[in-house]
Formats: sequence, C-alpha cells, structure tokens
Amino acid sequence: MNDEPHTPTERVFLITGASSGIGAATARHACAEGWRVVLAARSQERLEALAEELGGSGRALAVRCDVTDWDDQQRMVSEAMSAFGRVDAAFANAGFGGPRGFLKDTPEHWREMVLTNVYGAALTLRATIPALTDTRGHLLLTSSVAGRRALPGSMYSCTKHAVTAMGEAARQDLQGTGIRVTLIEPGMVDTPFFDNRPTEALKDDDIARAVMYAISQPPHVDVNEVLVRPTAQQG
Ligand SMILES: NC(=O)c1ccc[n+]([C@@H]2O[C@H](COP(=O)([O-])OP(=O)(O)OC[C@H]3O[C@@H](n4cnc5c(N)ncnc54)[C@H](OP(=O)(O)O)[C@@H]3O)[C@@H](O)[C@H]2O)c1
Repeated sequence: MNDEPHTPTERVFLITGASSGIGAATARHACAEGWRVVLAARSQERLEALAEELGGSGRALAVRCDVTDWDDQQRMVSEAMSAFGRVDAAFANAGFGGPRGFLKDTPEHWREMVLTNVYGAALTLRATIPALTDTRGHLLLTSSVAGRRALPGSMYSCTKHAVTAMGEAARQDLQGTGIRVTLIEPGMVDTPFFDNRPTEALKDDDIARAVMYAISQPPHVDVNEVLVRPTAQQG
C-alpha cells in the first residue's frame, strides 16, 4: 500500500462562489499550483469560461449550484466525485452583502442573504464533509472582518458572525477526522460584491494567496483564522 501523500497535481479543490471575485481568483491560484478545481456558482456560462481558461475538463469542472438548494449541493459533490474521484479541499465562499441600517434593506433580501451566507455555507459543509473525511482534507469558509466585529445596522455582519461561529463549531466537531478548518476573514476587497467599487481595497488575488497559504501547510498545522485588511482600512 502506498502511504505517500498525494502529490498536488492529484488534489481537488471545490470552490463555491467561483464565478467571480475571491472564488475565481482562488481557483486560478490553485490551478497554477497544480490543483484540479471544481467551480460552483449559479452563473453557468461564467463558470464554463473559467473552466476553459484553467485547462478544460481534465483540470477544472464547472457545476451550476445554488448554494441555498440542498439537491444542488449534493449534485455538486457527486459530479466532483464522478469527474475527479476525490475532494481534498472545499471552500464555502459564496455570499453577498446588503445595505446597512435595519430599516434600509428589505425582508426579502435579508432572507436571501441569510439563506445564502449562512444556510448555504452550512449545506456546503454538510455536503463535503464525507468526501473530506476520506482524504483527511481541508474545509475553508469565507467569513469577514464583519464576522469579527459588528458593523452598525448590518444584517450582513450578523450573517458573517454566524459563519465565524460555524468555522469554530466545525473545527471542534471534526476533531479526530484529520480535517483542518480555516476561516478566511477579508477586509474590504475590490470585487463585484460592491456596486460602487472601493478604492484602497485589497485585490481578490490578495485573499487567494491567504487561502493558498492555509492549504499548503503540512498536515499537523491547522491555520484556523486568517484576517486580512487593506493597510488603509481602519475599522
Ligand atoms: N469583497 C469584500 O470586500 C468581501 C469582504 C469580506 C468577505 N467577503 C465575502 O467573500 C465572498 C466572495 O465575495 P466576493 O467579494 O468575491 O464577491 P463576488 O465577486 O460578488 O462573488 C460572490 C460569489 O458568490 C456567488 N453566489 C452568490 N449567491 C449564490 C448562490 N445562491 N449560490 C451559489 N453561488 C452564489 C456568486 O456567483 P453567482 O452569482 O454566479 O451565483 C459569486 O461567484 C462572499 O462570501 C463575501 O461575503 C467579501
């Protein structure tokens, strides 16, 4: 029996929210370092264009998945297993924000945000933990600086506090499985997350490098949280 760890070229990284911003940048960095990637989001055409850019079906698989839908999440993992036979890292990254002020946003938008940012992340954990158990893999979740300190009137900040708790709850729950858990906590990043794109913000590549740092550590090192602000960000 071969007990050697799998080489990076064999490893598979599943990323939700991969059609844009931090998820797409992470997919590019992971591919450049020899990982195969599973790209999940709702925008099928964008995912397919990215999969093509990253080398096509042997290297990158595009899977349409609405993270709020349990059937989609299960299908995402089963398509990953059919294509590549394993999942070594899973990044629950899909999410979006909304206006601050408890009277500003609509209840319907709150509902979508909570379902996507919190329930969707939990479903990604649930769907990927069996495959990650087999590989003694790595689970990552995108929280935020807004998941470490409350922002005024921000329901988004509430959802990201839930994600921060989810990462620590998962870390404790998965003790003994060999699965490592990392919370990625970005400050302001210049992505389509913002309708009005910020200046003096991080680039999506800056967060992708933080993800790659966490997943490139040796098996006995579990990087639990990485909080990255732009140098110019105060709060
Ligand atoms: N930008 C920032 O300053 C910042 C700071 C801290 C944390 N974050 C977090 O970072 C993560 C990525 O955001 P980003 O900045 O990269 O923004 P982005 O470019 O807008 O990317 C968001 C991604 O989430 C996907 N998504 C949204 N709803 C989804 C759903 N129901 N099902 C599946 N995928 C869904 C989008 O794809 P589709 O629309 O194609 O589905 C897209 O790929 C989010 O969790 C966000 O909260 C961002």
